[in-house]
Amino acid sequence: MMIEQIRAQVRQAYRSAIGRHRRSLATPALILDLDVARRNIQTMAARLAVLKTSLRPHTKVQKSPELARLQVEAGAVGVCTATVWEAIVMRRSGIEDVLVANMAGGREKLRALAREARKGGLMITLDDPRNATDLSAALREAGSTLDVLIDVDIGMGRGGVRSSGSAVALARHIATLPNLRLRGVQGYEGHCMLEPDRAVRVAKAGAALDGLVSVVGELERAGFPCGVVSSGGTGTYDITGAHPRVTEIQAGSYVFMDKFHGNLVPGFSQALTVLGTVVIEHGRTIVLDCGRKSIGIDFVAPTMVDYPSCQARYFAEEHALFDVDDSCKLALGDTAELVPGYAPTTVNLYDAYHVVEKDVVVDIWPIIPRGPGHIGLLDD
Ligand SMILES: Cc1ncc(COP(=O)(O)O)c(C=O)c1O
Repeated sequence: MMIEQIRAQVRQAYRSAIGRHRRSLATPALILDLDVARRNIQTMAARLAVLKTSLRPHTKVQKSPELARLQVEAGAVGVCTATVWEAIVMRRSGIEDVLVANMAGGREKLRALAREARKGGLMITLDDPRNATDLSAALREAGSTLDVLIDVDIGMGRGGVRSSGSAVALARHIATLPNLRLRGVQGYEGHCMLEPDRAVRVAKAGAALDGLVSVVGELERAGFPCGVVSSGGTGTYDITGAHPRVTEIQAGSYVFMDKFHGNLVPGFSQALTVLGTVVIEHGRTIVLDCGRKSIGIDFVAPTMVDYPSCQARYFAEEHALFDVDDSCKLALGDTAELVPGYAPTTVNLYDAYHVVEKDVVVDIWPIIPRGPGHIGLLDD
């Protein structure tokens, strides 16, 4: 119920944008170029089809059931999410196979997950026997069953069991618990994504995958078959996707190709921009109204689409300050589109995408859940 209300409210609030040119919107505005996004989706689907590996796109990047649907229509087996709330939104929006590619804790959140699991189509990762026990209790209370993957740390040092011994011990523990069904493993080689040197990235991802495959071997020898081996991201999709033991790739950023990933992976184009207005102009300094409360600046600075040679000096809350050169034709009151440094921390700031085809807004797609909160799903 809550999700449909949000969807209707957002569509209503932004309806006046429909039919307008992408450069004439009230700013800051988040723009999704649907033609480009569709091409990115088709490209990734085609490349993984050649590698004979499934795609389970990470939707924390876009938080949009509409985009997830396009990805599934292009052949994705399902989607990943980073949070339970994102997963519930995806399930209730009709995505049939959803993996929370992360650990979830806290009584209320586990309760919400367990209740949602009554309808099936959900899976989550575990890396700790205590978490497994808590989840099993929540599932028992809700009368539901949940598929789980053991998360394996393959070099990133974030989540994941630290050894094959711990993986087997966790698998044995899961086997003693009611309402949990072990399906395989997840290993995310996030520490390789940031590696700019392709040869080093290949070597690092190869080492990470060796670690993952060795844990899979130990689990299978101990009697726990791993039908699912879920791994990879945009920076490694073609390396990890080529490994015969990996069954699915979790890439997500390819759909937008923000500045950060665009520098690392060729063959995809930028589909996400933020439109700003020049609100201050003094000599060679211009300031747009899309500061860090409007655009994700993690890892690399955003750039202007039309003036890529102009450097951003800094992003304050509501100010994007650029030192411009002679190429820049912007004057006070003009609008400009910026490519976000990092897309996942950009979309989270907005209610909706202005969906553009041939430079004109054709639809409004809500971003749900906007922010990290439960948006009412706790009581739903
Ligand atoms: C577990 C997991 N899988 C996959 C991804 C997707 O990576 P990308 O956005 O680079 O495609 C992430 C990103 O943080 C992640 O945390």
